[in-house]
Amino acid sequence: MAKRELTVFANLDGEFVPAGLLELTEKNERLLASEFAYGTRYIDRPGALEIDPVSLALTDKEIIRGRKIFPKNGLPFFGGIRDAAPDAWGRRVIEARLHAPPNSLPESVYLLEAGGERVGALDIRESRESEQKNGHVLMTDLQYLIEAAERIEAGLPVPSHLEVIFAGGSALGGARPKATVRDAHGILWLAKFSSAGERLNVPEIEAATLRLAGLCGMHVPEVRTVSIGERRVMLIRRFDRYWATRGTIPPPDGMFEPTHPGPGLLEKRVPFVSGLTLLSCDETDARTRSYGELAEAIQRYCHTSVVRDDKRELFARMVFNIFVTNDDDHLRNHGFLWDPAIKGWRLSPLYDVMPRPSISSERYLFLAPGPQGRLASLDNAMGSREKFGLGEKDAANIIARVWREVREWKIHFESFGASGRSIAQAEPAFRHIDAISSAGLRQKLP
Ligand SMILES: Nc1ncnc2c1ncn2[C@@H]1O[C@H](COP(=O)(O)OP(=O)(O)O)[C@@H](O)[C@H]1O
Ligand SMILES: [Mg+2]
Repeated sequence: MAKRELTVFANLDGEFVPAGLLELTEKNERLLASEFAYGTRYIDRPGALEIDPVSLALTDKEIIRGRKIFPKNGLPFFGGIRDAAPDAWGRRVIEARLHAPPNSLPESVYLLEAGGERVGALDIRESRESEQKNGHVLMTDLQYLIEAAERIEAGLPVPSHLEVIFAGGSALGGARPKATVRDAHGILWLAKFSSAGERLNVPEIEAATLRLAGLCGMHVPEVRTVSIGERRVMLIRRFDRYWATRGTIPPPDGMFEPTHPGPGLLEKRVPFVSGLTLLSCDETDARTRSYGELAEAIQRYCHTSVVRDDKRELFARMVFNIFVTNDDDHLRNHGFLWDPAIKGWRLSPLYDVMPRPSISSERYLFLAPGPQGRLASLDNAMGSREKFGLGEKDAANIIARVWREVREWKIHFESFGASGRSIAQAEPAFRHIDAISSAGLRQKLP
């Protein structure tokens, strides 16, 4: 058993400052326990950010001053810090760099090695004196990044001319091959590649599906696809960065109308936590969780000014996931941002929505939509509407709004430039309203 002390930095107004000390108890690759103490100077800073709103809230500064804090629910980690570490994909990249077998490294190594472009506003370093690990990876490197990602997936060594993946590929969560890149203006994008040997054109289908969700009225980041040689790549704009002068914050709703780099502007970071953190659970018990619980967490942790809208949006996302068979809707695929304009947490823009083709007439989501558990049906969703603060009419209006666009999905996909082949591949994922609702429910729709 070994104890490892790390320094957690938080980005305040475009600059990293030490926020506190994290002590991890590790046994080889297993993390057994975490403790954290906020720095006393840090908590007195105006605008000090909380690392997560569940275990490390900054609401009562006097109670936590100088105290060691432990994670809620007996978890071995703090959700907000776990969210700043890579999961499956980023771990493979770090292991490739360090020549280590899969999942063989201690958690502290993954936390330290994720690099400067990790999601949210935190950085984890060896000590107060450590510098930020920076590596500017450009959109023009995509060709190399894809080649390197293929080699990592195949368990092959990465030759030196492809080492750009080590700077660009380790930051973010998720299992699919990906990298973080900057465009010619300096804007940060997440690039998602197709996986080797994959039949579906995932980047094209995912991009079109996200844009379809945007037409249904949901908050979706800017999404594009580009071709690199034979391969399609999906680019989604990072929603956890914005640009402003020192001391200023983005306008209200700035999270959804992102700013751009410019003279005199600093790149600022937006704190991020996943749904896993808001529900204070780990992956192993995430399977028993529901959308209703996520709605309750919004009620509890998000800023009062956004609670109503965020619960409606979550209901719409759940309905959309039922229509498109996105059954990878687990708690890491729901995110929350700390919006400096309202000084509070709110639902992040939508990401990672991928239709899964199926021939089954009975399908299930990952998170349970309603009283019938994980069953992907609109009646099941309707059964939990009260948890989202929705009356029957409101819920019916949301379902009708989503269906109005989803029923035309092929036309929309074409207008987004998706190929006939991608549309044919995605077709068995999309569901007709008659297949997922009772006649009684359909009668209630406007
Ligand atoms: N547009 C975005 N801006 C910032 N962070 C993002 C964005 N999209 C995804 N992320 C973060 O990156 C992680 C991985 O992305 P995701 O699309 O979920 O990949 P995967 O398909 O591999 O799961 C997410 O869990 C989330 O934390
Ligand atoms: Mg994901």
